[in-house]
Amino acid sequence: MNRIRVFAPATVANVACGFDSLGFAIHQPGDIVEAELNDEKGVRITGITGDGGRLPRDADKNTAGVAVLALLEHLGESRGVDILLHKHMPLGSGLGSSAASSVAALYAANQLLGGPLKKEEMLPFAMKAEASACGSPHADNVAPALLGGFVLIRSYEPLDVISIDYPENLFCTILHPHIEVRTEDSRRILRKHIKLADAVIQWSNLAGLIAGLAKSDFDLISRSLNDIIFEPVRSLLIPGFDRVKGSAIASGALGCSISGSGPSVFALSTSMEKAREVGLAMKQAFSELQLESDIYVSPVNSIGPRILQPDENPVEPLF
Ligand code: HSE
Repeated sequence: MNRIRVFAPATVANVACGFDSLGFAIHQPGDIVEAELNDEKGVRITGITGDGGRLPRDADKNTAGVAVLALLEHLGESRGVDILLHKHMPLGSGLGSSAASSVAALYAANQLLGGPLKKEEMLPFAMKAEASACGSPHADNVAPALLGGFVLIRSYEPLDVISIDYPENLFCTILHPHIEVRTEDSRRILRKHIKLADAVIQWSNLAGLIAGLAKSDFDLISRSLNDIIFEPVRSLLIPGFDRVKGSAIASGALGCSISGSGPSVFALSTSMEKAREVGLAMKQAFSELQLESDIYVSPVNSIGPRILQPDENPVEPLF
């Protein structure tokens, strides 16, 4: 095999109370990489579709390229990889767009090379790519994009990444507003110091969320899905956030918060039907402000990246 086509999924980082520590993967949207192994050392980005010409074509500046270059260097490879990247998710959306690209490229390259590394061993290369994209090597998008499911980053130094059990019937609704927020900007506005009393509430909620997920205790998940530190600041960048969140909760979602650094908003529900209902209500609330959005609805993605069949293409937003 010297050609492969791989899909890697969008991710919801932070999950309300787990800033830079918790994330999970969904099934849609996501990016696709077509990769080809060749005898010429290094990485070549042969093309990018779906980015409106905005992403760098130089391999050492592009997240997919940075990740695969680091992998090849680690392996001491004399061969090289050509990458054709198809962006099927918006840039600056808070859905882990750069992570989906780097993880798809890494997984594809590793497969072409005969699978020398396990998925978790590729994580540092994806984190390097993340740092090149937004100046911060946070792993709460790349780890779930690579490993699937819910992933806790217990420690960055040394890296300690834990897959968390979660209930089977947990479904995610994403509202992606048609605005862009750069992760770099959304991090810059955060306060550098927080009150001890707020920290206690936040880490208690994170512990409650992890326990609720592991025990399939939906009431506990619901009570714990709160972010009292970052959401109040970042939601100022998302017009209509309070209305959208209110509509999600009123429609029966377990909870609702900002996905990653925004502007996308996520909600969790206990059935696909409920997640669709919640999505409809969120879109309605947003459109009352004359604002456009896309809705994605998905179970939690337990797999992460996967090889695509030749005729398989990603689905469009639900509505
Ligand atoms: N944890 C990161 C942040 C995720 O909130 O800035 C970025 O998608």
